[in-house]
Amino acid sequence: MVSARIPLVAGNWKMNFDHLEAVYFVQKLAWLLRDAHFDFRKCEVALMPAFTALRSVQVLVEADKLKIHYGAQAVSVTSQGAFTGDVSADMIARLGCRYVIVGHSERRKYHPEDDANIVDQVRAVLAAGMQPILCVGESFEERRQGIELEFAVGQVRDVTRDLSDEEAGKLVIAYEPVWAIGTGMVATGQSAQDAAHAIRMSLRTTFGRNVCDSVRILYGGSVTSRNAVELITEPDVDGFLIGGAALDVNELSTIARLTVKTTSDAAK
Ligand code: PGA
Repeated sequence: MVSARIPLVAGNWKMNFDHLEAVYFVQKLAWLLRDAHFDFRKCEVALMPAFTALRSVQVLVEADKLKIHYGAQAVSVTSQGAFTGDVSADMIARLGCRYVIVGHSERRKYHPEDDANIVDQVRAVLAAGMQPILCVGESFEERRQGIELEFAVGQVRDVTRDLSDEEAGKLVIAYEPVWAIGTGMVATGQSAQDAAHAIRMSLRTTFGRNVCDSVRILYGGSVTSRNAVELITEPDVDGFLIGGAALDVNELSTIARLTVKTTSDAAK
């Protein structure tokens, strides 16, 4: 990426790490980044723990004044009431969360999360003062048919069409081709760029130049320290949503450092 957008390296822990493991990880990540003189003004780092670890992460981040952000992996579309097992956006916001992942392909697959529900999640997250990380991306079948760009752009358009410019400007979009998630098959830099660019141009058509220029578009799907540089070099790729590699603290800190180095070199 070569723009004024601050890159975001976000770890999606999925259903891994209890609250003690989470605290240990965050502490170690903070040490590694501090020892490397990591510049948080040049790259945001965020973690998405399970709900059960959020409070512990909050206590640590606030006590040690860490610059690491955190968020949740899903949210209820309702604000309170008889919804056993659900967690509201306000509850998540009260824990100091900045982000909530919305519409991850695993949520779309294993839970009844359709576009209408995802629109409501986006609205709930925004209303609670947080930023949705909206996940989109084609399956292997759409890619085989050569319609991957239309598919990802269509998903963004379906979810965002009724947002105001101000609301849309708070989105983070994660382009995550489903075939790349957890498989070790990563998109090429060029295909991540093509998708990110197509999504950005559609934001421009729907919302105008400010939203198009300011919304960060992440790539997700088998990101590691070995492929991060190729991906982040692309002008419309503004960071990563990372699953497997975000469970390894050395790997995650390396990806964050490579992101700063690559984007700073490109800006020179
Ligand atoms: P992965 O997961 O990095 O393990 O492919 C990415 C994601 O699901 O967000």
